[in-house]
Amino acid sequence: MLFTTLATICVALLWRVNAVLAVDFAVPSSPPTQANPVDPSLVSVSIEFFTLPGYTQIEATTNCLANLAELRGVPPAVRIGGTTQDRATYDPTLTSAVNYTVASPADAPASLTYGPPFFTLAGQLQGDVTLGLNRQLNNQAASLAAAVQAKKSMSNLFAFELGNEPEFYASNSPIIPKGQTWNQDTDAVGNMFQGAVYLSWSAGGLLSRIGTDGARFLKSISRHSYPQSACGGASTNLPSLMSHSGIVSYTRQYKAEAAATHTAGLRYFLGETNSATCGGGGISPTFGAALWIVDYVLQAALNGVDRLYFHQGTISNCVGLAFYLHLKRRSDLLVRHGNQAYCFWGSSSVFAPYYGAAFVSDFLGKDNNAKLVMLDNGTSSLAAYALYSSTTNAPLRLLVINSNYFDGTSATTPRSTATLRFTGLPASTTTQPKAKRMTAPSAVATSNVTIARSPAFNSSSCATNGVPPAILEQLQRAADGSLSVNILASEAVILLL
Ligand SMILES: *[C@@H]1O[C@H](CO)[C@@H](O)[C@H](O)[C@H]1NC(C)=O
Ligand SMILES: *[C@@H]1O[C@H](CO)[C@@H](O)[C@H](O)[C@H]1NC(C)=O
Ligand SMILES: *[C@@H]1O[C@H](CO)[C@@H](O)[C@H](O)[C@H]1NC(C)=O
Ligand SMILES: *[C@@H]1O[C@H](CO)[C@@H](O)[C@H](O)[C@H]1NC(C)=O
Repeated sequence: MLFTTLATICVALLWRVNAVLAVDFAVPSSPPTQANPVDPSLVSVSIEFFTLPGYTQIEATTNCLANLAELRGVPPAVRIGGTTQDRATYDPTLTSAVNYTVASPADAPASLTYGPPFFTLAGQLQGDVTLGLNRQLNNQAASLAAAVQAKKSMSNLFAFELGNEPEFYASNSPIIPKGQTWNQDTDAVGNMFQGAVYLSWSAGGLLSRIGTDGARFLKSISRHSYPQSACGGASTNLPSLMSHSGIVSYTRQYKAEAAATHTAGLRYFLGETNSATCGGGGISPTFGAALWIVDYVLQAALNGVDRLYFHQGTISNCVGLAFYLHLKRRSDLLVRHGNQAYCFWGSSSVFAPYYGAAFVSDFLGKDNNAKLVMLDNGTSSLAAYALYSSTTNAPLRLLVINSNYFDGTSATTPRSTATLRFTGLPASTTTQPKAKRMTAPSAVATSNVTIARSPAFNSSSCATNGVPPAILEQLQRAADGSLSVNILASEAVILLL
């Protein structure tokens, strides 16, 4: 009996060892000529218009943005806009930044006014700021006065956006000419500065309508991008959000539009993006979303996206984790509802997705002309990237993501491991390669994320001082110079060469 049991265990173990996925990736010794450098503000943030004053009062806002700036050498850009930019009217006599009333702190106001102090706060942000102005209400005098005041008080002003997602304007919106159909033809008349700001209409469609005469008034093109939707009770799916092959095929849709935008001499941004429309559908605050961010940011860059502005929620919705901890985890998918929509941080918390933003920023680093190269073929669950130095042309770092979904709920289903071997690396080098691992208890975890075995950021202030130090893993080069690393399902690792 005992023997049988032991034998069974041995067979099980052997089977499990055999089941380990082992994949080789060849690392080119220098980047292919078509490899492009990456914008230093690739990972940027979008703040819902009316919440800007609230965000500026939070310690974590300053620290979380400063950490990203420290990792990339340039601050993240900030877009201030969203649905409430089209509900806001500038009032030059208002002595507060914003004025509105809401029934509950978690609500977005149906209408608001804002005054000159709004621009003082926006002007204090460190990175490029794109400011959303109202278009839907067609109060041109107020939006023009706001633009004049913003230009006067914001040295960080990058561009204005006139209106947000005009394709969704209600048919009785003041901007829509009486008796006319609202479509991309009517919209294309007179849109300036950061153009498009579309979710579903194509930006290429705007460029062809306005021609070069119109394009010279633009600085950038913005597409809004949400891979999933939770609108109208639609269900979201975390395994599919974080799937590497899914991310590769999703981001490919932007390639032609980015190329057309660059040909027109403009920058191409995903000017508002996050996991799922209508509040994130419960998948937005998870560690799986952090892994999605890492892969999505890099795939977007490879397809010509210059920046991604990750939309942040209403601060009152960015609450602590207690709400999530009592929700039952489900293997089919996560919770259907939840109130931590899109938040990198809240008034006294740092959330799992922020770790993804920081990790990918760490990988990209401060060499602003470094070249990014994808090493895998985009069809499997394993993502592998290399980053090449702009000075030596040699690979500096590798990044791997195991996008296999581990939900952590089953005591009997072990977390699978993949072994990735990188070949083509120089056999003789004086540096000792190391691994920096981002992990969490599972893809559905909303807390307990670590980078290099450290919580990395103060969990309330987002500061890095006082946090336990990073512990890097030592890696051994094989005689032929190749490097191997093990990576669990739902994990990411940076290899420092
Ligand atoms: C602020 O808005 C409220 C309505 O929400 C209005 O009653 C009040 O007069 C406004 N205050 C100022 C100073 O404009
Ligand atoms: C893509 O890579 C995976 C993993 O390395 C491999 O199994 C698969 O055969 C490759 N597919 C193609 C089309 O090369
Ligand atoms: C997270 O860490 C805390 C403190 O170390 C621990 O009590 C808790 O069980 C952990 N949660 C998970 C989901 O692992
Ligand atoms: C985190 O920051 C808070 C507020 O700034 C501070 O009180 C706390 O001591 C910090 N925790 C650690 C571990 O440094």
